[in-house]
Amino acid sequence: MQVTKTSLRRMVARIMVLGLFAIIFSACHLEMYDQPKNNALTASDFFSNGSSARPLIDGTVSRTGLKIDARTTGRENGDPIAAYVTTNPITIDEAVMARGQARYKIYCASCHGEKGNGKGPAAGPISKGGLGLKVPALFYVDQLTGKAVTNETFTLDQAPDGYYFSTITHGVPNTKYDPTKPQTADNPKYTMFPAAFRIQNIDDRWAIIAYIREMQNNPPAQK
Ligand code: HEC
Repeated sequence: MQVTKTSLRRMVARIMVLGLFAIIFSACHLEMYDQPKNNALTASDFFSNGSSARPLIDGTVSRTGLKIDARTTGRENGDPIAAYVTTNPITIDEAVMARGQARYKIYCASCHGEKGNGKGPAAGPISKGGLGLKVPALFYVDQLTGKAVTNETFTLDQAPDGYYFSTITHGVPNTKYDPTKPQTADNPKYTMFPAAFRIQNIDDRWAIIAYIREMQNNPPAQK
């Protein structure tokens, strides 16, 4: 194509119009850009505590910063081969006890029974399920006495709080686990259900344990 004077003029005109549009429309962003907003950690006169950063919602779980300690593992100092903690690492008050009771009813009572006697509605089908399992009582110390705990020297009535935590978090230790082989579905370190595995809030697990201890000390009347 031959570049004529007219086509050159038209091209220059088009470029100028485009340039004009670019200038006009780039100015438009100012209105959105200057809207009210909070930059990180700036003060705010909107919220009553004067901070623009909002506190975490109750039960928020860190995806990256899980601290490895007695509270998150049930073992002394969070050491995986140390002894189980014997005392509950959270402060126990009435609210925690009520929380523990409510969580127990949701997560444990179907098998262990609302009264902790091991006779929840699902216990029967489990014992008939061919696995040879019997749901143990959790609240009746006389029923727990002498009940051996897999791979441990203590019996279930003397099991420390940290053992309860480990059991409901990981499951019951597998007697047939071979530590020389990798942990796989055929060689699981734990068997059974980790009943509280889905309870994201770790303190809720400890609240359940506090409730179980309280019930062991004051067993609920049967019937
Ligand atoms: C699906 C039924 C079921 C639910 C739900 C359940 N358990 Fe269990 N639990 C069992 C059975 C069955 C056993 C016996 C396992 C065995 O003998 O290997 C058991 C064993 C236990 C033991 C003893 C572990 C041991 O070493 O002998 C503890 C402690 C325990 N459960 C706590 C809980 C707590 C706390 C909850 C609720 C967070 C809970 N369980 C929920 C069925 C259940």
